[in-house]
Amino acid sequence: MRGIILSGGSATRLRPCTKITSKQLLPVYNRPMIYYPLNTLIKAGIKEILIIISPERAGDYLNLLGSGSKFGVKFTYEIQDQPKGLAEAFIIGENFIDKENVVMILGDNIFEDDFINDIQDFKKGGKVFAKKVPDPERFGVVKFDQNMKAVEIQEKPKQWISDYALTGLYVFDSRAIKIAKQIKPSARGELEITDLQNWYLKHRELEVGMVKGEWIDAGTFDSLLKAQIFAKKKMQDKMIINN
Ligand code: G1P
Repeated sequence: MRGIILSGGSATRLRPCTKITSKQLLPVYNRPMIYYPLNTLIKAGIKEILIIISPERAGDYLNLLGSGSKFGVKFTYEIQDQPKGLAEAFIIGENFIDKENVVMILGDNIFEDDFINDIQDFKKGGKVFAKKVPDPERFGVVKFDQNMKAVEIQEKPKQWISDYALTGLYVFDSRAIKIAKQIKPSARGELEITDLQNWYLKHRELEVGMVKGEWIDAGTFDSLLKAQIFAKKKMQDKMIINN
């Protein structure tokens, strides 16, 4: 299993704080934000991790994270020239993924849960993780039928379809590369991760797990503040990476 952390984007929602640095390098209590998703991958035993970054911030990431040896893992870096969507990560990561399964986590997503078994036991298809939220319009959303079987996935639906957000943790087999290449950009000009999820859903190969603990997408000022407090109270004893 290979790991990807997608840490690109221009984070306009966090201006002016992101004018001179990357959102995922901002502090969340006592660590840079990216340490939390990195911790999730390292805890799950992932040893080879591709970090996808924007060209302007590449030097900062190299300075902070280096080769990965201080964490006992190996980092590869790739540049995402433009924020063209989450699904593009699988195209950028084509050589890195090769024929392996891959787990991608977003650099601004903080999870209380460990996903050790979900990641280690994964064989093929796709697996995503849902969480009931009060503000589903901010996220990719999954609708379930009466038997809690996923029936529909939509990116930031304007009309309410469900309270279940799809969090920024995705496990796919290497077919994700080919499928991502077939996705057409959405109205906002991005290759949407929900299109990739919908492909696996349509082919009955998508498993949807539930996130039990807290989950925060720290991409707005309010969610960043929430993440800071949560990290101080609940994440300190879960972190295996410190420096
Ligand atoms: C992205 C995805 C969305 C997902 C969210 C999780 O949204 O497009 O499907 O629910 O991450 O954090 P963004 O944060 O880019 O608006």
